[in-house]
Amino acid sequence: MDKKNMVFIARSLDGYISDRNGGLDWLNVIPNPEHEDAGYGKFIKQMDALIMGRRTFETVCGFDGDWPYPNPVFVLSKTLMAIPEEFKDKAELVKGSLGEILDQIHQNGYHRLYIDGGATIQSFLREDLIDDLIITTIPVLLGGGAPLFSELPKELEFEHVGTEVFLNELVQSHYKRKN
Ligand SMILES: NC(=O)c1ccc[n+]([C@@H]2O[C@H](COP(=O)([O-])OP(=O)(O)OC[C@H]3O[C@@H](n4cnc5c(N)ncnc54)[C@H](OP(=O)(O)O)[C@@H]3O)[C@@H](O)[C@H]2O)c1
Repeated sequence: MDKKNMVFIARSLDGYISDRNGGLDWLNVIPNPEHEDAGYGKFIKQMDALIMGRRTFETVCGFDGDWPYPNPVFVLSKTLMAIPEEFKDKAELVKGSLGEILDQIHQNGYHRLYIDGGATIQSFLREDLIDDLIITTIPVLLGGGAPLFSELPKELEFEHVGTEVFLNELVQSHYKRKN
């Protein structure tokens, strides 16, 4: 079975994925009356499961409305001891090294994994565990916040698969890890 770890994320022009207060309002600065989803719906349908960091999980838990994911969600945290009661049927806490966590998730039949959260993506990249990066750049400079990328122990080369522009403002580029 083809195993893949994929990132699908929006970042500001200066490389942040949330603002200084952890906010995401800037994701909606471009008027989007027809609710263009920039390929998200198609992407999430192709994923078997999500692995997300504790902070992203907490953000999602605070969203109004229904739980947004149709797929199983695995939450990475060293500090969280249990998933809050009301989300127990939505998400599962996983602990251990990334290798151990991935083995366990693969053994459960989930192979195409959506990796979400800045620190989480960075920890996967440090171990060269990301196959695809789909990054949508929003034309706003936040000036600070949670960064998408950080330092790595070595260079990682990716190849450009394609770029699409949505609403004439959102630039989405797909990169694949070079073998
Ligand atoms: N723009 C977008 O499309 C987008 C997408 C996703 C998230 N966001 C936003 O980005 C912000 C969150 O990003 P973030 O970088 O702060 O954090 P994150 O990756 O969501 O969460 C970080 C936490 O995850 C846990 N973690 C990460 N890697 C781990 C590992 N290898 N092993 C064990 N635990 C690990 C740790 O939790 P403990 O401290 O509990 O150990 C760490 O503090 C939120 O504001 C969220 O709303 C934006």
